[in-house]
Amino acid sequence: MKYFFLSYLFVGAIIVSAFGFRGSKSELPPIEVFQDMDHQAKIKYQASSEFFADGRGARMPVKGTAPMGFEIPAKAAVEGAKPARYAFTNGVGYYDTGKMGDFYGDGLPTEVTSDPTVFNEAFIKRGEQRYNIHCAVCHGTSGNGKGVTSKYGILAAFNFQQPGALDPANPAAFRADGAIFDVITNGKGLMGGYGGNITLRDRWAIVAYIRSLQLAAKEAGVTLQ
Ligand code: HEC
Repeated sequence: MKYFFLSYLFVGAIIVSAFGFRGSKSELPPIEVFQDMDHQAKIKYQASSEFFADGRGARMPVKGTAPMGFEIPAKAAVEGAKPARYAFTNGVGYYDTGKMGDFYGDGLPTEVTSDPTVFNEAFIKRGEQRYNIHCAVCHGTSGNGKGVTSKYGILAAFNFQQPGALDPANPAAFRADGAIFDVITNGKGLMGGYGGNITLRDRWAIVAYIRSLQLAAKEAGVTLQ
């Protein structure tokens, strides 16, 4: 038994002397038992590559392709002008933030309502489709906060059909259009943001659809006010 422990210590000492303590620094190249993904066949920024005939690693986007979710404007946007309505922008107005100054605004922005080619039945249908894709799992297809996730008791999502949901004087239940827009963009509390996944115009379409869900619920006799 004594020899067993001694040999145990001996093996331990050999391993430590060969590999060093975890995190210890050395000038020598590390001995890598498990390489994980330390070495990858990839081209780093600004590096050259023999794979391409011109030897450059950095490539231009393939002709005719567009990043997902973007509508490429016909020409570069003039400074100060909005690029495309469908874009993800960092603008500061109501259309981009849902805020009027320091406060959330209510009502759809004029960028949406002033253009009949944008603001029509298809807009609400688009909102319905986007809502069902992005929101219904948690908030429920009717907006009552009981999506599939509630069956598993994971999250208590906001209920758009609670009493007071249409009453601006009830801060616990009412959310202004701009506030809903902001929650979609940045998330709030337990809910993550969807600003990177849903374009500006689609976010407003979802807001409009949530309102139509609420009106439908009211018609059906749910007390919202
Ligand atoms: C993964 C589940 C999940 C998804 C998907 C989701 N939400 Fe939520 N949402 C929540 C939860 C949970 C809360 C409550 C957050 C809290 O109070 O911490 C919430 C809260 C909200 C609120 C109220 C926030 C407040 O002011 O208190 C709004 C508005 C909202 N969600 C809108 C949306 C919309 C619109 C979508 C779709 C784009 C969406 N949510 C997608 C889980 C989700």
